[in-house]
Amino acid sequence: MQDHFKDKAENWDDGSIRKSTPVAIFDAIQKKFSLTKEMQIMDFGVGTGLLGFLVAQKVKKVYGVDMSPSMLAKLKKKNTPECFIEPIEQDIVKEPLSIVFDGIVSSMTLHHVENLEAFFTSIYKNLHKDGFLAIADLEKEDGSFHSDNSGVYHFGFKEEELLKVVKKCGFRDVSIKNIATISKPQRDFGVFLLSAKK
Ligand SMILES: C[S@@+](CC[C@H](N)C(=O)[O-])C[C@H]1O[C@@H](n2cnc3c(N)ncnc32)[C@H](O)[C@@H]1O
Repeated sequence: MQDHFKDKAENWDDGSIRKSTPVAIFDAIQKKFSLTKEMQIMDFGVGTGLLGFLVAQKVKKVYGVDMSPSMLAKLKKKNTPECFIEPIEQDIVKEPLSIVFDGIVSSMTLHHVENLEAFFTSIYKNLHKDGFLAIADLEKEDGSFHSDNSGVYHFGFKEEELLKVVKKCGFRDVSIKNIATISKPQRDFGVFLLSAKK
């Protein structure tokens, strides 16, 4: 399987955007859902753990799912006994997990998922009843966000279209809110948080 993040992993955590965006996403998740020490959470597309390690401080355990060995290698170096993410190297679109979680979080990964309906149907099964979903990604853009669009299936998302798919897959209390802006030289890009419950 091709690792699209092989050349990006080493310097993934560098730069101010990489520091501020996960914090904005984490703050928005905490405003929407209370994270407790009983919870087991999946971070889908955990990468180097920029969001996952923030969540890990508040819950019992975070499972960081990612299909990129290089991103997970970087994450493993950041693991400590006090703040730990359980890495799972798996493409959960092709090979769904059988674990059931109290919540699923995700940052900037949904645009890498080609078949959204299949994905949301699959992860619905990974949540306990009343479990939550908190997925952050880009609002509809013109394709200029990434310098290389290989592995990118969506140039951001239109709110109505995404809401429709997520509701169709069985989730309730589905909403989308703008929570951050990523400023690049070419333009600004809006970041949303999709929230839902099972
Ligand atoms: C843009 S990065 C975001 C990483 C991290 N969440 C962050 O905000 O810094 C997307 C990550 O999702 C992973 N990914 C994409 N599709 C995946 C899939 N189907 N299963 C598991 N991981 C996936 C990629 O390998 C990559 O590490």
